[in-house]
Amino acid sequence: MAIVIAIDGPAAAGKSTIARRLADRLGFTYIDSGAMYRALALWALREKLDPADMHRMEQLAMAAWIELERGTSRVLLNSEDVTEAIRSVDVSAAASMVAAIPGVRRALVEKQKAIGAQENVVMEGRDIGSVVFPNADLKIFLDAQPEERARRRAAEVNGDRDSVASQIRERDERDRTRAEAPLTQAPDAVYVDSTGKSIEEVEDSILRLVRARITNGKEFS
Ligand code: CDP
Repeated sequence: MAIVIAIDGPAAAGKSTIARRLADRLGFTYIDSGAMYRALALWALREKLDPADMHRMEQLAMAAWIELERGTSRVLLNSEDVTEAIRSVDVSAAASMVAAIPGVRRALVEKQKAIGAQENVVMEGRDIGSVVFPNADLKIFLDAQPEERARRRAAEVNGDRDSVASQIRERDERDRTRAEAPLTQAPDAVYVDSTGKSIEEVEDSILRLVRARITNGKEFS
């Protein structure tokens, strides 16, 4: 049986950085499930389709060929490299709209489950511990105070902190209140607050949990 470490949490809580480092450290595959919703949203925007159109978005999700390249973390949409294109502000907002559509989630969750069944993964997202892998070996809910998340994301995208803060607030609200697979902490997830902590500190605290719960104190690989 493959091992699954699920990391969920709100926007810009540091999930990608931590999940990627953890995967490197453990020799696991890193899977950014959000990149799949982003890739689909990019396609919709390019086709000038409404990301809230349930029927069209479900069709698009079934037709989309989305690949997450191992090692490089490159994201391919229908064989095109969209790694950078999916990080725009417009795509972020549209991603959380397409992600509210049940048919879209069905299609993408199926792909995520297939990956986690085959290889050891660190998968990050919103519903990994609650829906995609309810039996994950370790579930982390990674959070940080809103001001810190806005500061981090503003630095990443070279944007204005106030507007980034309001974009994040709006997206989190949509992610938390949607009917289908809302962002929520699974009852058996460990809450980790990264506010004021360095990447190394957060990584170490999660590695301690991995050793305690999965490897019986031993190191991987
Ligand atoms: O990197 P950031 O935290 O800003 O977002 P992301 O993980 O790339 O996810 C983009 C959007 O995809 C989120 O706002 C969610 O609406 C959606 N998403 C989701 O619904 N379920 C997931 N497992 C991952 C992302």
